Amino acid sequence: MTETEALVRVEGARLHYPIGGIVSAMRGLPSAVKAVDGISFTLHRGESVGLLGESGCGKTSTGRLLLKLDDPTDGHITFDGEDITTIRGEALRRFRTRAQLIFQNPFEALNPRFTIRAALSEPLENARIPRAEREARIHRVMDLVRLPDAAQFLDRYPHQLSGGQLQRIVMARALILEPDFVVADEPVSMLDVSVRAGVLNVFREVRARMGLTAVYISHDLALVRYVCERTIVMYLGRIVEDGPTEDLVREPLHPYTKALVAAVPVPHPDQSHDPLPIGRGAPDPRNPPSGCSFRDRCPMAHARCAVEEPGPSRVGQRLVHCHLYDQADTRPAARGTPA
Ligand SMILES: Nc1ncnc2c1ncn2[C@@H]1O[C@H](COP(=O)(O)OP(=O)(O)O)[C@@H](O)[C@H]1O
Ligand SMILES: [Mg+2]
Repeated sequence: MTETEALVRVEGARLHYPIGGIVSAMRGLPSAVKAVDGISFTLHRGESVGLLGESGCGKTSTGRLLLKLDDPTDGHITFDGEDITTIRGEALRRFRTRAQLIFQNPFEALNPRFTIRAALSEPLENARIPRAEREARIHRVMDLVRLPDAAQFLDRYPHQLSGGQLQRIVMARALILEPDFVVADEPVSMLDVSVRAGVLNVFREVRARMGLTAVYISHDLALVRYVCERTIVMYLGRIVEDGPTEDLVREPLHPYTKALVAAVPVPHPDQSHDPLPIGRGAPDPRNPPSGCSFRDRCPMAHARCAVEEPGPSRVGQRLVHCHLYDQADTRPAARGTPA
């Protein structure tokens, strides 16, 4: 297996949540939240990819599509060559063990009435792993998430553990069936800042050791940068930029990525950033702007942006969805000069 082999392919996926019913439809009001609105990307085996963007831009919805927790309203998603929108039976059961979610909130992810051992046994039972093997698997995964003194934890209940310990258990539960693919949805956002680094380091280590393909969802560029070699930036249900994280941080191309990078504290004082006056709060995904969905906050928007949705342009190793980069494979002469 080579690293460049595709594991997950997303082609034109949409996830629209119906709202309002017939009365709003008759009044011409929006009938759906366009949480994901036509995204395409490929995840290669062993890759760790950040899904970055403001709250409400469709990150969690995208994660739900990747794990078949929701089916797309439109488009296709394949996992290891198989269309997950149509799989059932044994193939679906196999997919459910190979692709796992690491929950955002460790305080809600575990049943308070189950001991840690019971919480970790449950997926093994569901996957019909023989009883004799279960305890060894549990100890192995506890080592993996760096809770090696398993005896100390296994008979306790969730409320007896700290947030950092709980999130490692949540990770252990997602990893115990040895998946090839994980989606971690803001896994440290509910944790105290002081324990975040520890949990992130475990995630990085586990990913490398298991050769996992991982999607790491976050609104925080600094966290994505720490964990992911590649980043996909989303805005209002669409992808605006996709490429190597370091390129994206060093020289963001899309005006929205520029704004996100400018909002992160500058690591080197001699590196200048031009903050963009886009303000806070994205527009309503029930009623996104025509053309480029970022145009009403974009300081570089021009007439064409209102009428035509920008397709992906390739710039180096990146894909950028912005009319400033319409001539594919060329770099614009100056940063931020309208075409
Ligand atoms: N079950 C749902 N029903 C209706 N709207 C939803 C539902 N889940 C999410 N949304 C809406 O879809 C949009 C994207 O949500 P989400 O994927 O959770 O974004 P993010 O994870 O980036 O914050 C938001 O406007 C959100 O309010
Ligand atoms: Mg979310």
